Amino acid sequence: MKIFTMKLFASTAAIAALLLSGCDLPPQETVQRGYRGTGMEAVYSPEALEEIIAANQVPAAIPAVSSEGPKAADIYQNVEVLGHLSVGEFTRLMAAITQWVSPDQGCNYCHVPGEGFEQDTLYTKKVARVMIAMTQNANQSWGAHVGGAGVTCYTCHRGNNVPEQVWTIGVPPRHASGHVHQMQNVAHQESSVFASLPIDPFTPYLLEDGVARDQGNTALPQGHEASIQSTEHIYSLMMHYSDALGVNCTHCHNSRAFGSWEESNSERVKAWHGQQMVKQMNNEYINPTNAWLPAYRQGPLGDAQKVNCATCHQGAYQPLLGANMLADYPNLGSLAPAPTDLVEEAMDVMEEMVEDAVEAIEEMESASLEQDDSASGEAH
Ligand code: HEC
Ligand code: HEC
Ligand code: HEC
Ligand code: HEC
Repeated sequence: MKIFTMKLFASTAAIAALLLSGCDLPPQETVQRGYRGTGMEAVYSPEALEEIIAANQVPAAIPAVSSEGPKAADIYQNVEVLGHLSVGEFTRLMAAITQWVSPDQGCNYCHVPGEGFEQDTLYTKKVARVMIAMTQNANQSWGAHVGGAGVTCYTCHRGNNVPEQVWTIGVPPRHASGHVHQMQNVAHQESSVFASLPIDPFTPYLLEDGVARDQGNTALPQGHEASIQSTEHIYSLMMHYSDALGVNCTHCHNSRAFGSWEESNSERVKAWHGQQMVKQMNNEYINPTNAWLPAYRQGPLGDAQKVNCATCHQGAYQPLLGANMLADYPNLGSLAPAPTDLVEEAMDVMEEMVEDAVEAIEEMESASLEQDDSASGEAH
């Protein structure tokens, strides 16, 4: 009997160990990040941290080259976004891009062998050009979010043709009763971090202009209205924020008052800028590439694969744990300057147009003096 109990205990323990192996084992480490007693602390699993550190190592940079000498635009035929680089810098960046995006396929992922490098035959080259501008723009215009570490192709791609963490517009599952499905309680959805929350929190907030604010300031509703549905959408988005960065809600919020900006950490403001940046990336850069994408690169509704917080962060509070790869590739730091001769040309054209317009107005004025009243009545 005793032996039986022992055996039972042992096998139960073994099963429990098996079940728990999916969880992070204690001890957990807690770091206080705000006032004592406000729950403003971050909980880390040392084991998970080790994995994150291992996954966020940065590849060695290609040795720097001179920015002197002829510009790419003087030598090459079809350069729109990198023409201002020296030929040396241009070649170095092509090599780096190959390392970051298509290490297995090499230059041929974007260029057809035997054909001139200037041809835009492959869709991948056209997408890459948009990606270069998107990256330059992120560094130039979104310092409020990425300033410090900066962004390169590697931040998202990490040696993959398409970044590992992307999203497309969600499709409601079929619903037997014919009711409109609210897209929740769908099992095994990473987008809602496996919770029974809406499975596409991205479309409203990272593509459209949805504002994730629902909380009232009073205990009972007094004119403030927020639907359960939108509240659940916000919760789902917040689960993504936490999951993407590998942090607790209190990395950004004071859990005493989630809505209060005054009591939130500065990270929340940073996150807000990130939200606006991601929206611009998806609308102004990624969506337009959809015209060239093959069907296997599109979601079920035929849209392009888009950026969310996890595309860059990949589980780390700062992508690549804050390593600044941009310092080694300053050419991705800002958009190509508008060619000055083009600007001058445009100015000349504008001046001519203004002169013509002034002349036309003068002519019309002198003509209208001679016009009778009935003619001006007809115009109405
Ligand atoms: C991920 C896509 C991609 C890869 C891989 C790639 N390139 Fe490019 N390449 C481009 C894009 C985009 C342009 C156009 C840049 C612009 O518009 O300023 C370009 C332009 C060029 C040009 C200028 C051609 C001309 O006359 O306009 C040369 C030369 C070139 N690449 C060489 C290379 C070499 C060599 C490699 C491999 C080491 C390589 N590229 C790998 C995307 C790529
Ligand atoms: C913020 C994240 C992000 C950054 C930074 C980024 N990409 Fe992308 N890239 C994406 C996403 C999302 C897609 C899929 C959507 C698409 O193809 O438009 C993609 C797709 C691509 C593709 C198409 C690959 C295929 O097989 O379909 C190429 C080529 C590419 N990126 C090159 C680059 C280059 C070169 C850089 C750096 C100059 C870069 N990307 C920077 C997110 C990023
Ligand atoms: C990386 C920072 C960050 C993390 C982590 C985060 N949030 Fe948020 N949260 C924000 C930002 C930014 C907004 C405001 C977004 C907007 O204005 O569109 C917000 C909004 C909210 C709101 C709405 C407040 C209002 O005014 O109605 C609630 C509630 C909320 N978060 C709860 C949570 C919960 C719960 C978690 C953890 C699961 C969490 N947040 C994790 C940044 C974060
Ligand atoms: C294009 C890549 C990219 C995307 C997409 C992105 N981030 Fe970031 N984020 C960064 C970089 C780079 C930093 C580090 C900046 C620095 O060094 O100060 C950062 C830092 C942060 C920080 C500060 C963390 C800390 O503790 O210092 C927060 C919070 C944050 N991001 C939230 C978000 C949220 C939320 C989203 C999605 C809405 C998002 N990020 C999307 C690149 C990105």
